[in-house]
Amino acid sequence: MEIKVTSGDILSQKSDAAVLFSFEDEKPDGAAARLDKTFGGIIAVAMKSGEFTGKLAETFLLHAGPHMGGGPAKVMLVGLGKREKFRPDNVRRAAGKAATSLRSIGVKTAAFEVVEYEGLSAVDVSGLLAEGALLGLYTYDEFRAKDPKKKELGSITLVLKDKASEKLARKVTESVRIVAESVSFAKDMINAPSNEMTPAIMAERAKRAAKETGFKLTVLDTSDCRKLKMGAYLGVAQGSAQPPKFIVMEHNGGKKGARPVVLVGKAITFDTGGISIKPVAGMEKMKYDMAGGAAVIGTLRAAAALKLPVNVVGIVPAAENMPSGSACKPGDIVRAMNGKTVEIISTDAEGRMVLADALCYSERYKPKAIVDIATLTGGCVVALGELAIGLMGNNEGVINGLKGAGEATFERVWELPMWDEYLDSMKGDVSDLKNAGGRDAQTVTAGKFIEEFVPKGTPWAHLDIAGTAWEEKGQPYIPKGARGTGVRLLLHYLAAGE
Ligand code: BES
Ligand code: MN
Ligand code: ZN
Repeated sequence: MEIKVTSGDILSQKSDAAVLFSFEDEKPDGAAARLDKTFGGIIAVAMKSGEFTGKLAETFLLHAGPHMGGGPAKVMLVGLGKREKFRPDNVRRAAGKAATSLRSIGVKTAAFEVVEYEGLSAVDVSGLLAEGALLGLYTYDEFRAKDPKKKELGSITLVLKDKASEKLARKVTESVRIVAESVSFAKDMINAPSNEMTPAIMAERAKRAAKETGFKLTVLDTSDCRKLKMGAYLGVAQGSAQPPKFIVMEHNGGKKGARPVVLVGKAITFDTGGISIKPVAGMEKMKYDMAGGAAVIGTLRAAAALKLPVNVVGIVPAAENMPSGSACKPGDIVRAMNGKTVEIISTDAEGRMVLADALCYSERYKPKAIVDIATLTGGCVVALGELAIGLMGNNEGVINGLKGAGEATFERVWELPMWDEYLDSMKGDVSDLKNAGGRDAQTVTAGKFIEEFVPKGTPWAHLDIAGTAWEEKGQPYIPKGARGTGVRLLLHYLAAGE
């Protein structure tokens, strides 16, 4: 879909539909007031009858027809919710809902009104509208028969009041497009079934992105990883017929020699649990256990396309966790790249094992900071549900940077404690560590476990996206399925510096 920017009167645009936004229980103003007058109080009547009240993401369609003098034949009113409860994300939601509703009724071109809400500039609003629409319109049709009657919204024109902001708004929407495309790129990988998204295929996708946008890519295979003594990572991979791929990406947009931020993403292309096998119910969902890795590849893609002025490295240890004659077994002891030994209590606690070696590997980059992202624990789903990403770390600067990015992108994070005592249950009896403690504080003990592999003295934070990577119901700008969680968050974090 194309996004255009112009200025002038929304009701005289050459589009199939005009989209106007309204706060809840407020009288129409601006273009809506003019429309109301032209049609003899039609909006006021709809509000009085409760047909349209302006609730967040509520829509109301008017057929304006020839009365509009050549302007849009349809007008859609979209609610922004109560003014007192306004937050920038409401604009994304309203735009996502408007875009998908218009698509469903076969509208091809739409004009969106850009007004300045509650401390946001017209440029800010343009960015939010474009983001909501682009993310909301995502579909995953890879494995469906082609629909010859498939409806598509072809273009959205953002209509500003003021010509002076046009240029900047255009620039912002262009960046938003790159970000949204990178989110879609991550979602495509996550939505793909595991037979079509093996570690090798993930590496291929990363390679394609590297070619298209110009970041550097290296893929290590089993023998490379063996030489590097990545016993924890290879232990996870050894039960599968699919060879592991350790994907390393670099975008050097910052000063030459400046220490990079390293991003590490868990990429288990399917998590059966291994010998500690998972129950049948819901196991198909474990194709999204590579969502952290997909987020990191998506972030590198966008960072390179946007030419972000930062040095960033992405590390994605990809593997499949399978039970087989060659699989790791409970009680087995493996040695990670930093020499620490780990007794495998549960082969289903595999995410921390692949992260362990990836964190060790990051040391060679002398990172300024490390952020890892992973669908790591079911406990995180229990604790925070689908609303918040679990955040843990050893450094206030990194933690606050991620909190700020979480608010700005509405990929919200919530910090959990990292007291030393939480490591106790992970200490080994016959080894340095064990990979599973007990049920209690699972998310935190997993965080404490991986902290043991962070290069000494390096600022680090860990994001647990087990609860936030997958959308069950569908929301205005978050279609069902993969959410692409982390791409916008990490990009914002990188762009904001510290
Ligand atoms: N991939 C799972 C975590 C997960 C659960 C992600 C639900 C998304 C939704 C992870 O590998 C896992 O199995 N974790 C175990 C850890 C336990 C064995 C210590 C868990 O959560 O039960
Ligand atoms: Mn698991
Ligand atoms: Zn897993």
